Amino acid sequence: MGERKRIGILTSGGDCAGLNAVIRAVVYRATGTYGWEVVGIRQATLGLMIRPPQVMPLAIEKVDSLLTAGGTVLGTTNKGDPFAFPMPDGTLCDRSEEIIAGYHQLGLKALIGIGGDGSVAILRRLAQQGGLNFVAIPKTIDNDVGITEHCIGFDTAVNTATEALDRLHFTAASHSRVMILEVMGRDAGHIAISAGIAGGADIIIIPEIPYTIDQICRKIKQRQEQGKTYSLVIVSEAVRTEASEVVQNTNRLGQRRYGGIGQYLADEICDRSGAETRVTVLGHIQRGGTPSPLERLIAAAFGVAAVDLIAEGRYDQMVTWQNRQVLSVPISEAIAQYRAVDPNGTLVKTARGLGICLGDKDAS
Ligand code: F6P
Repeated sequence: MGERKRIGILTSGGDCAGLNAVIRAVVYRATGTYGWEVVGIRQATLGLMIRPPQVMPLAIEKVDSLLTAGGTVLGTTNKGDPFAFPMPDGTLCDRSEEIIAGYHQLGLKALIGIGGDGSVAILRRLAQQGGLNFVAIPKTIDNDVGITEHCIGFDTAVNTATEALDRLHFTAASHSRVMILEVMGRDAGHIAISAGIAGGADIIIIPEIPYTIDQICRKIKQRQEQGKTYSLVIVSEAVRTEASEVVQNTNRLGQRRYGGIGQYLADEICDRSGAETRVTVLGHIQRGGTPSPLERLIAAAFGVAAVDLIAEGRYDQMVTWQNRQVLSVPISEAIAQYRAVDPNGTLVKTARGLGICLGDKDAS
């Protein structure tokens, strides 16, 4: 009998629900169908940089209980680009060759990387430089990777944001308040538009559609005139102020992060309409927790398809979800396109059709 094929899997970038379900599916398919060995690489590419490489053997018994577990058992990082790796002395160092050597030291025949567009681009560059057989699985609650309609983590984040709106609804009504929910999504408004429709928001503000505070206040007033004394607003973190200023804050490490647009809207709405406003910033709650059933389904489909690509020797591909089918595309095509919310797409049309205000700058 020939040598048992060994493949690696890693998670890179921000965590989200469904990563463990992907790992489980990969192990089931690779070991159960093909009889391969799967090793999990710890902390994304950091695990391949350290000597000896930091890995976790992944047998079926090890991953059996992972279906419902949030986060990633492998750990992850969204810092430390290996081509410009921050060193303790403050300099940046190209450590790509160490990672490539780590892959070969482990005797890997292929690598599955689960990541967003940034991570996948880095992993692809490593693969091209070092002759790694690489297959990508898209994940990010932001759902902004090109071509695929779903990234791992998105559906659960939408469920969480929808539930938050459901809860805010009652307290908003009880106190006749305008409740503002600030959600993640980085530069895209996918979470806000989806959860906003599903959760019955009255106003949805996303980065893809310019808005004015006056339009928002007009909608609130119109509702008041109809006897609806409260309103629900959902806003994406990357929405700018009316004057187009980016709203971010800096932590003690000097890292800049989105956050604060909800409070900005609350203050402006209060000033201009007199409404009592309150803000909820949902934050990392959107990334944690049990994956939704749809998330688990897509995770299973992606995991199986990624292993099958390796079995077919089809590398440099990313699995995608398109029209309820798992397909694959060259990674270069997927990362070349940023997927923002289409201002003329179905969800925006649906929101408008329901009378939801999108704050449109150009509306009278
Ligand atoms: O990309 C995923 C994401 O959760 C964004 O929606 C958010 O802006 C960012 O990551 C938060 O990053 P961190 O976990 O580093 O605070």
